[in-house]
Amino acid sequence: MKKIKVNLDKKVSNSYEICVGYDIMDRIGLIIAKNHPAFRYIIVTDSNVSALHGEGLLEKLKGMGLKADMIEFPAGEASKNISTALGIVEKMLKIGADRKSTLLALGGGVVGDITGLIASLYMRSLPYIQIPTTLMAQVDSSIGGKTAVDLPEGKNLLGTFHQPRGVFVDLKFLETLSEAEFNNGLMEVIKYGIIEDAGFFHFLEEHMDRIRKRQSDALERIVENSCRIKKGIVEIDEKDEGLRRVLNFGHTIGHAVEAASEYRMSHGEAVALGMVAAVRISERLHDLPAEDRVRIERLIKSAGLSGHIPKTITLEKILSRLKMDKKKDGSTIHFVLLRKIGMPFINGGVPEMVLHDVMEELRR
Ligand SMILES: NC(=O)c1ccc[n+]([C@@H]2O[C@H](COP(=O)([O-])OP(=O)(O)OC[C@H]3O[C@@H](n4cnc5c(N)ncnc54)[C@H](O)[C@@H]3O)[C@@H](O)[C@H]2O)c1
Repeated sequence: MKKIKVNLDKKVSNSYEICVGYDIMDRIGLIIAKNHPAFRYIIVTDSNVSALHGEGLLEKLKGMGLKADMIEFPAGEASKNISTALGIVEKMLKIGADRKSTLLALGGGVVGDITGLIASLYMRSLPYIQIPTTLMAQVDSSIGGKTAVDLPEGKNLLGTFHQPRGVFVDLKFLETLSEAEFNNGLMEVIKYGIIEDAGFFHFLEEHMDRIRKRQSDALERIVENSCRIKKGIVEIDEKDEGLRRVLNFGHTIGHAVEAASEYRMSHGEAVALGMVAAVRISERLHDLPAEDRVRIERLIKSAGLSGHIPKTITLEKILSRLKMDKKKDGSTIHFVLLRKIGMPFINGGVPEMVLHDVMEELRR
């Protein structure tokens, strides 16, 4: 099992460890009991993960003589709202949860984000631990302490920063994940290579086949490397005031197209085309070498995603969604663009004509 420390400014948050390994649930139980003692543990999970992995964890904790309960809610982004959060809180009150309790967020990013939010608010905050079960959550959402629920007006509009006490990544969970969900996470992994580490990008080019077959050594390498990159960025910019924005690479256009498709398009497909759009804009406006663009587009394709915008989605719809982006600054949308692989920067605004042309190219 590998351990990666997230070192944070102790005036703001506690530092914590990310533990990564394969088939490590027994050890996770022991470490939680030893290093994170609590009067009561409450597993928060969704309706898919509960049967697949929740019952097992609950039995393990109980088997160690720990007081443990499990609360589940219906799986999916549609559940990531304040009424689900209140439903969980009501169940916690019934169980008798207090500030000596610890929440265990077992699931994907939806479970992690909602559990983190409750942990930051319930009785003015209690500890929580992330046990991510999707690739997306293992490489991204479980690290960094961003918590949120969605509002009808947009995603993640109600949230806090609240760091977990620890993150436990068991790669065995990925064996039950669907291909579409695996691809969602893979896009974040590719993003890390593009924005931060040209050597890692090359590794992905060489080993994409083995990664897609979910061979454990390849998975270990990509998850561990991604966690290191994410934690490095969070350490420098915990509160998303500067550098952390580079993590948004491919997401500005991706989110706009995803929303314009009324969420019929998968998040992975949306981020894939968002990254392709960002590299094409970078080539036009900032001299990204054509060779880098070709390599990025080829890698995304080899991961099974097209990088295209479905013809059924109009450009007007995408552009109007872009203008609603919550990360915009006044009327300017800041795009994360690229000078070369491993060298991103925040651009001060892309002319609408360029946006229009690039997206038209990607519509098939
Ligand atoms: N906090 C952050 O920094 C951050 C970063 C990125 C994304 N996010 C958030 O994360 C969410 C997306 O996360 P996600 O992609 O994990 O989605 P998700 O949590 O909805 O999980 C996707 C699906 O996979 C199922 N699932 C989870 N683990 C499984 C397993 N091991 N086997 C089989 N099925 C499994 C879930 O039940 C769900 O149906 C979004 O709400 C996004 O806003 C947060």
